[in-house]
Amino acid sequence: MVTLPRYRYGARFYDTVSGERLLYRHGRAAAIRLLALQPGARVLVVGCGTGLDLPLLTAAVGARGEVVGIDASAAMLAQARRKVVRAGWRNVRLVDGDAATLPGVHGTFDAVLFTYSLSVIHEWRRAWQAALGRLAPSGRVAVVDTDLPTGLATPLRPLARLALWAGKVDRNRKVWTTVLDGLTDTRYHRLARGHIHVAVGTSTGPAARQEAR
Ligand SMILES: C[S@@+](CC[C@H](N)C(=O)[O-])C[C@H]1O[C@@H](n2cnc3c(N)ncnc32)[C@H](O)[C@@H]1O
Repeated sequence: MVTLPRYRYGARFYDTVSGERLLYRHGRAAAIRLLALQPGARVLVVGCGTGLDLPLLTAAVGARGEVVGIDASAAMLAQARRKVVRAGWRNVRLVDGDAATLPGVHGTFDAVLFTYSLSVIHEWRRAWQAALGRLAPSGRVAVVDTDLPTGLATPLRPLARLALWAGKVDRNRKVWTTVLDGLTDTRYHRLARGHIHVAVGTSTGPAARQEAR
């Protein structure tokens, strides 16, 4: 088990102080919409955190579907588990583990979702490959992540810089380009003047997965 100490004390306040209502929910909502999940689908959420994606995902896949979330922070997962119990979702499974190896994650998935996680996962390329390796043929992948805003929102850059620094986001990775460069049938949205990037694409099979290494 990997336990990230970073979120140990902040997990309880994450949903309130992370800017979810103001900003970040728009990114996750756009990604989940673009995944076009069908009832009965299986979805893997990598770096699921406190489970903010779960209400939208469980609604999309329905009772016959399944949502599996993996995270390396026990404190974040504890918050997610609370949501699962409170909502009574019987088709959500939460796994404590490293995204680079996906221990305890079995089977294949119709979709994989990384919301604000690929830019903070230490071994992010391994995590990307591991997730693609669990996709069913023609499975869809969504990446939502952050960068500094541009244009009219440029004056807000110091605030965004602070948020990225606090979240230990490596913005140089531009993780959404991994979808745009490596997958097919891609869709891309730039929200909040470039602070939030949403990219969704279809897996092109094992050959393309090797190329992305
Ligand atoms: C900024 S939070 C985003 C959480 C959630 N996806 C959301 O949208 O609110 C990043 C999450 O990635 C998780 N994480 C970081 N490195 C990880 C790793 N190596 N394996 C699994 N999860 C990891 C953290 O524990 C944290 O919960």
